[in-house]
Amino acid sequence: MAIWNPAQYLKFKDHRLRAALDLLARVPIDDARSVYDLGCGPGNVTPFLKQRWPAARVTGVDGSPEMLAKARAQHPSLAWVEADLSDWAPPEPADVLYSNAALQWLDDHATLFPRLLGRLRPGGALAIQMPRNYGEPSHTCILKAADAGPWGAKLKPHVREMPVAAPAEYYDIFAPVAAALDIWETVYEHPLAGDNPVVEWTKGSVLKPLLDVLDGADRDGFAAAYARCIKASYPKRADGMTVFPFRRLFIVAVR
Ligand SMILES: C[S@@+](CC[C@H](N)C(=O)[O-])C[C@H]1O[C@@H](n2cnc3c(N)ncnc32)[C@H](O)[C@@H]1O
Repeated sequence: MAIWNPAQYLKFKDHRLRAALDLLARVPIDDARSVYDLGCGPGNVTPFLKQRWPAARVTGVDGSPEMLAKARAQHPSLAWVEADLSDWAPPEPADVLYSNAALQWLDDHATLFPRLLGRLRPGGALAIQMPRNYGEPSHTCILKAADAGPWGAKLKPHVREMPVAAPAEYYDIFAPVAAALDIWETVYEHPLAGDNPVVEWTKGSVLKPLLDVLDGADRDGFAAAYARCIKASYPKRADGMTVFPFRRLFIVAVR
């Protein structure tokens, strides 16, 4: 599993929080006793689940000890569990399984998502948000930069080109098994400060496991080629800010 860097990820925490709260607002559950934040990362969203369902036992689940250490230190009163979500299940049927910006790291959604839905009590909700920016320069620059030097051969097996499918494919996955289904997409227009801020953003997420595959001149060469591609794709506005459009897919399925 990738080694995550909570500090880099949290550089844009306010921007990243927006989608998490938009997802939470659409979960149609009033009373909940057991709520799980799947792929909770550094625990920046988990307290909002506790705020929404104060009577619930809220548990953050993540595979990264680095992320969980940060989460535990910040919010010792919540429960934190280290587990791989590909085979994790709650000990008892849950009221809410919530996952913001994490399940894109797992494969085979056609198996995983109905399995998670099946771990809810009848009437419980599975809420998922995943980035779907894979056709935009933030992500296409990765392959362009991989092709720009000798590091490509080492890097390309690790590039996950399209880990999130089209919305209609998720409709097909959930329609046979969900009692109610809500799917939508939003493109957020994030105004970012700094010299080449989209690179700083992706260094905390999609770029991190790829940079870790390389070292020395290969790592520097790839990073520089990616930064050039990003700079050309996201020009600064007149006031010095950079606008980063970011598409996200939301699914709320009720069992
Ligand atoms: C981008 S962070 C999202 C953090 C948080 N949910 C948020 O909204 O800010 C993705 C998280 O998914 C976790 N993750 C990725 N694959 C995982 C897996 N197979 N099992 C458990 N956690 C995983 C990573 O460790 C990371 O903390």
